[in-house]
Amino acid sequence: MITVVVGTQWGDEGKGKIIDYLAKDADIIARYQGGGNAGHTVVLKDKRYIFHLVPSGILYPDKICIIGNGVVLDPVSLFEEIDYLEKSGISVEGRLFIAENAHMTLPYHKVLDQIEDKFRGRGALGTTGRGIGTTYADKFNRIGIRVIDFLEEDIFMEKLKIALELKNYLFREYYKEQMLSPDRIYKETKIYRDRIKKMVKNIAIYLNEEIEKGKDVLAEGAQGTFLDIDFGTYPYVTASNCIAGGACTGLGVSPKKVSRIIGVVKSYTTRVGMGPFPTELKGIEGEVLRKTGNEYGATTGRPRRCGWFDAVLVKFAALVNGLDELVMTKLDVLTGIEKIKIAVAYKFDGKLYKDYPLNAKVFSNCDVVYEELDGWKEDISTITSYNKLPGNAKKYIDRIEEIIGVPITKISVGSSREQMVER
Ligand code: IMP
Repeated sequence: MITVVVGTQWGDEGKGKIIDYLAKDADIIARYQGGGNAGHTVVLKDKRYIFHLVPSGILYPDKICIIGNGVVLDPVSLFEEIDYLEKSGISVEGRLFIAENAHMTLPYHKVLDQIEDKFRGRGALGTTGRGIGTTYADKFNRIGIRVIDFLEEDIFMEKLKIALELKNYLFREYYKEQMLSPDRIYKETKIYRDRIKKMVKNIAIYLNEEIEKGKDVLAEGAQGTFLDIDFGTYPYVTASNCIAGGACTGLGVSPKKVSRIIGVVKSYTTRVGMGPFPTELKGIEGEVLRKTGNEYGATTGRPRRCGWFDAVLVKFAALVNGLDELVMTKLDVLTGIEKIKIAVAYKFDGKLYKDYPLNAKVFSNCDVVYEELDGWKEDISTITSYNKLPGNAKKYIDRIEEIIGVPITKISVGSSREQMVER
């Protein structure tokens, strides 16, 4: 059966560590959406690995890893990662497979992503510049290039020419940028063809067969619920379905095969890039969270915006994902803060909102209604049993659980595998 792991905020909840932790009980770990924009960090024996495309389960030598059709695949990023892993003594040979129908992110997607965001001016999204939105746009515009097309040289060239026709017109006439030559892209990407050929599979058939045999699949979500193209803070979102439902369309498996859905939630809130963030702390308190939590983007290095825990958001995430349980990360970062706040509602124009409003005018301009709890001073980074946590830390967890209505089953108190409180 399938267990889906999703982000319940704006990404960066610490999914990498949690996937790595849960992967020990799975046979197959499968990424279902997003692309090189993701930055899943796993710390193993003091070594830090950042995964952009390779599933975070790869550090277990006996696990199969899958890049599903819902992912957009940048071969440059993929092979940089694979080469780094191989140099570190971790072989992916015969256990990393790519869906034939995943779409390729090619050089023009990255160039266009960066130009488009610059041209948005005040409306810039602050994308990662990894060509994510532009690859998905081509997919939906039916001029995308799938992995299987890339492998057929004549088809690849033909599709490349079609995809570049309009883009080169825009580069030349509108953006006043250099045009990109299909021949050059064809030549530059040639080196990846044979390497990718060895990894492709009809993943939908493979996964369904493996599930039929009783294998357990861990579906690894990237980004988070509020970066989801449909339910996030549109337009300040990524271009895919990050929510649990995305696992079915992004891997080719029926919703009937999903048996468990786990949300990963940070004990406070962060966001990278532009867009509304009601509980953001712009002063010294935000700075303290950023420093203590080392809140800098794993993909772009940008400082993350930091703020209080927003229970209104996570309650909505529990609903649209159908969460069975929550895993809370980075509780140790809150140690030493005297009073900790939880957002429980918003106020706008005299009206109280207890649920996440999809209306951007409300969400961008609302005041936040907070509950305030006492903090704790004790170092919790070596605690592994819930009972040993300071009373105020337990009260914080219990209160959040009560508001969200979903059990918090694990609490991470540091970046290594061992720093985990099982409840
Ligand atoms: P894109 O996914 O590069 O198009 O970026 C769209 C928005 O999503 C920007 O605000 C990015 O900062 C944000 N974003 C994309 N991927 C991640 C991620 O893995 N973690 C956190 N934010 C992300």
